[in-house]
Amino acid sequence: MELKLQVLQILEENRGNTVNGAKLASELYVTRSAVWKAMKALQKDGYHITAVTNKGYCLLSKNDIISAESIRPYLKGAASHFELDVRQKVTSTNTLAKELAAKGAKEGTVLIAMEQTEGRGRMGRTFYSPLSSGIYFSIILRPKLNLEDSLLITTASAVAVAEAIETIAGIKAGIKWVNDIFVGDKKVCGILTEASLNFESGSLEYAIVGIGINIETKDFPEDISQVAGSLFSEKPQNSPITSVLVAEVLNNLSKCMDTLTDKKYLEEYRKRSFLINKDILVLRGKDTYYAKAIDIDEKARLVVAYEDGTIEALNSGEVSVRDNTKPKL
Ligand code: BTN
Repeated sequence: MELKLQVLQILEENRGNTVNGAKLASELYVTRSAVWKAMKALQKDGYHITAVTNKGYCLLSKNDIISAESIRPYLKGAASHFELDVRQKVTSTNTLAKELAAKGAKEGTVLIAMEQTEGRGRMGRTFYSPLSSGIYFSIILRPKLNLEDSLLITTASAVAVAEAIETIAGIKAGIKWVNDIFVGDKKVCGILTEASLNFESGSLEYAIVGIGINIETKDFPEDISQVAGSLFSEKPQNSPITSVLVAEVLNNLSKCMDTLTDKKYLEEYRKRSFLINKDILVLRGKDTYYAKAIDIDEKARLVVAYEDGTIEALNSGEVSVRDNTKPKL
């Protein structure tokens, strides 16, 4: 690893605290002047680093440049082996992750971007992904699942994100089936799961879980301005909140993936799922049907009762709440 990144990693691990220059140099087997040069290069990249004679260097808490080094200190358990690839601007992290997965990238490869020029949402929609105010990332998974169980990945990811928002930002997050994350009546995160199937075995070759979180996004395009929202009007200045949040999502996701088939996470999904017992509209192609959402079943399907009494378990598709007093989703 380049010396600059090695230095950055140590600074990130000690964020807000002073790291002794001589100790740093001896740990990295380089001269003090090489360390000094690396600090200068990092400062040039925009890092706020103070240097105090005879004390050392300190990466100030207010830094919010996202890098693999800023996220890694917060990864735990199996997620600490994830491979992080952080980029400034991409077309779509899902599109790139799919290309990497098709070339054999290993499970736990994570592509993270500050900006997407062609961010994609469900149902062929676009996902608004402006620079730095949100975070956009895709995780390559290789679960041993059949196609019919792929809904479990999507719903487990929704739980992973909702729990991370609550733990890190202290904000209550609900889930709108299948995988939209809401804070109050605003959608703050969308998840797009895409998979490649091995036709012979009927099992998944890989799955890509793409997550877009609006951290402090403003000025949404008109068509989504009524529904879209952000976690903060301004994110906290003195903590690397975006890096910690991404790490916590990855921690939760890696834990969920281990217990996917025993479906323990489904209980949490149901608790956070605010469609249950609501009058909804089921959209199928150009047609809409009145129904009541009754439950989330063991396959993570939304069970609905239509007006004629027919019951159906939905695998995918669009639903929206009918009650005018409730959020228009
Ligand atoms: C939706 O709300 O319809 C799903 C939105 C998913 C957006 C994320 S951002 C990271 C990843 N890359 C994409 O192009 N889409 C997903």
